[in-house]
Amino acid sequence: MNDHTRVAPEFRFRRLRQSSTLRAMVRENHLHMSDFILPIFVEEGISETVAIDSMPGVVRYPEAQLERVVKDAWSKGIRAVLLFGVSTHKDEQGADTWNEQGLMARMIRSAKNAQPDMLVISDNCFCEYTTHGHCGVIHQHGNSVDVDNDQTLVNLQKQVVVAAQAGADIIAPSGMQDGMISAIRVALDHAGFTHIPVMSYSTKFASAFYGPFRDAVDSTFKGSRSTYQMDIANGREALAESLQDEVEGADILMVKPGLAYLDVLADIRAHSARPLAVYQVSGEYAMIKAGAAAGVIDEKAIVLETMMAFKRAGADMIITYYAAQMAEWINANDE
Ligand code: PBG
Repeated sequence: MNDHTRVAPEFRFRRLRQSSTLRAMVRENHLHMSDFILPIFVEEGISETVAIDSMPGVVRYPEAQLERVVKDAWSKGIRAVLLFGVSTHKDEQGADTWNEQGLMARMIRSAKNAQPDMLVISDNCFCEYTTHGHCGVIHQHGNSVDVDNDQTLVNLQKQVVVAAQAGADIIAPSGMQDGMISAIRVALDHAGFTHIPVMSYSTKFASAFYGPFRDAVDSTFKGSRSTYQMDIANGREALAESLQDEVEGADILMVKPGLAYLDVLADIRAHSARPLAVYQVSGEYAMIKAGAAAGVIDEKAIVLETMMAFKRAGADMIITYYAAQMAEWINANDE
């Protein structure tokens, strides 16, 4: 353009996009290995890894391999793991979770033992330890079965103290019971664990994106979690859920799933100063893998773009099955 009569100078966004160095200088968000948390599935009673069909590259490990898996993760640059146990000692209440010799405690001890500096985050729930597969104690009223909120909190208090005693660095309750953060905080503080942070699955939706995870943990669960997990339609409530957990003392907040809930992530970011995590769940992972296998998307580019979307929306950390892969990809990603 050559119009010297213009009142305002013409602004050109492309001035800062001319070269990769210039683009790097003005880039607002970056991916680092310290952003990523790797979920690990450990199954009791198996002697070899079991593949999860819907999640290529993700397996359930026998307990005996956990130490090696944690060491390998560390050597790739992963600094935090999230432990999920698949129990064979299931009962109505999930009592194995507060047994000092139970799977949850054993996993935490062996992960810490393998790599003392690794941040070991315990997924604190009951669903993989109960015969019915719900995230707590169930009670029957009339024909319907529901999770008893306050009875579940009592069990959760026992569970998190055992997890902390076993050496967990961070307690991450995922059961979406009301009051769970204050119940946990009180229990941890009374047991002398005032220094142990709580990462709350503060805004967790009742989502179809968890489908492959249910595969992964071999859950016998057939019902619905809609009486405790959030309605996917609700944005205001999504903010309120996380702010409530902040008030109760959550040190880190979380949105789960990720990609379909970027609006929620951004809204919580705008209203809370707490660190914020996002969980890229099994269905998100499975869709990308399926698309890549079909040859219709560029897996690496798509993954990097979704990770950047999480950061841009306000996430400080990302729980993802791609964590190990990210070590390779973010280093090579110098466009
Ligand atoms: C249950 C739990 C779920 C996931 C982790 N813990 C979902 C559910 O079954 O409700 C999902 C993780 C994923 O899909 O990757 N407490």
